[in-house]
Amino acid sequence: MTQTTTPKKKLFLRSWGCQMNVYDSHRMADVLAPLGYAPVDAPEAADMVILNTCHIREKATEKLFSELGRLRVMKEARRAGGQDMLLAVAGCVAQAEGAEITARAPYVDLVLGPQSYHKLPELVARISRAAGSVVDTEFPTEEKFDHLPEASAPQGVTAFLTIQEGCDKFCAFCVVPYTRGAEYSRAPEAVLAEARRLVAQGAREITLLGQNVNAYHGADAAGAEWGLARLLEALAAIPGLLRLRYTTSHPRDMDEALIAAHRDIPAVMPFLHLPIQSGSDRVLAAMNRGHTADDYLRLVDRLREARPDLALSTDIIAGHPGETEADHQATLRLIERVGFAQAFSFKYSPRPGTPADGAAGHVDEATKDRRLQEIQSLLRAQQAAFNASKAGQMVDVLFTGPGRHPGQLSGRTPWLQPVHAIAGLELVGTVQPLRIRAGHPNSLAGELVSPPPNQEQHAA
Ligand code: SAH
Ligand code: SF4
Ligand code: F3S
Repeated sequence: MTQTTTPKKKLFLRSWGCQMNVYDSHRMADVLAPLGYAPVDAPEAADMVILNTCHIREKATEKLFSELGRLRVMKEARRAGGQDMLLAVAGCVAQAEGAEITARAPYVDLVLGPQSYHKLPELVARISRAAGSVVDTEFPTEEKFDHLPEASAPQGVTAFLTIQEGCDKFCAFCVVPYTRGAEYSRAPEAVLAEARRLVAQGAREITLLGQNVNAYHGADAAGAEWGLARLLEALAAIPGLLRLRYTTSHPRDMDEALIAAHRDIPAVMPFLHLPIQSGSDRVLAAMNRGHTADDYLRLVDRLREARPDLALSTDIIAGHPGETEADHQATLRLIERVGFAQAFSFKYSPRPGTPADGAAGHVDEATKDRRLQEIQSLLRAQQAAFNASKAGQMVDVLFTGPGRHPGQLSGRTPWLQPVHAIAGLELVGTVQPLRIRAGHPNSLAGELVSPPPNQEQHAA
């Protein structure tokens, strides 16, 4: 490693919420690297702390302020020692609350929304000139991607790549259209260039990200619009890029070409996160999802026809305003019909300013809790059954890094199940056929059955 002349400053970044926030946090670290900031694991000795927040469910704001309270103590301790700690709040709470944050916590130096990350160096410079705090929650998406640096710290064997941001769907319960703004797709050339860089840095699997990733419609330099299927095809041609995934998709945007991509492009993994939210048509309509339960089931059939080993994951909301016991039962039936390999489920959480918050028929907490538990126990059983079904099978596993125990590696199956197996570090970044010894509720145990070609047998 070459020594830079810039004195190293310590940057602590904490991320909540979706994978897009994880990706954004990496990018913020990249933008700050030329200023001499290097990431550290703890906030105590940091010169700058960035909290990358999520606003999707309740208590996000309270959690933020209690975290800020703790950081204030650290900041004051550093100031007493003649140093400082820049405190920045980024992400969706920053976007939603803006100057409210600095009004309540004046020791916060910077509040910046998701579209302002490329301006971090300039904003940091402005703080040192300004007497008070700086707030930037503008919405010019195009600029952000044009101005983020090309150089980036390696993400590892599995990497995220944001290709689309924002949402125009306005589901009744959701804040994302307000915090992330209108839908915007990056140019395919920019996505391909970033993917090549990630692969050159060791990425073997890339997950394309977007709040509505399958609504992707990036225009190339010639003005032609690419859908996600075409983008996946071009990405699959990058040498060394073994696996592709994308998340999160909306059922309404799963078109014929994308379904065919699951059949025709081997690098596209047979796993799809496809939120359904509810199994009741009444609730789906109240949510403004724009499809019925039956539309979803027929879509699942078409996907499984194209790719018989496709496994599905989903998001479910328990107790949306207006949800009756019959609606809840319809959700349980839909889950049974589909059979999910994995899922996220949440209690409905009122978000101020969204249509659902102002709607009639809010469900009481105890009922929401009970419904959520019923949904989760069914989903847990489905996940355990799916994992158990892999026992005894040969499965291709991408090794991603060292495992928890010495001599072990961690990896993931095509269906995103974590696997551990005894294997040598030289296999990190390769896909190996493993025999699955056991399928546990949350992970699989595997073993190499024969030494991989051109590899020496490693001591077990
Ligand atoms: N764009 C994705 C999801 C984004 S938010 C989609 O359209 O599905 C991730 C998940 O959080 C959602 O799928 C939903 O299940 C959950 N969620 C969003 N708002 C919520 C709220 N107000 N209460 C509870 N769960 C919510
Ligand atoms: Fe939110 Fe709906 Fe947009 Fe997903 S599609 S981000 S749930 S508004
Ligand atoms: Fe949360 Fe914003 Fe992502 S609200 S889920 S961080 S888009």
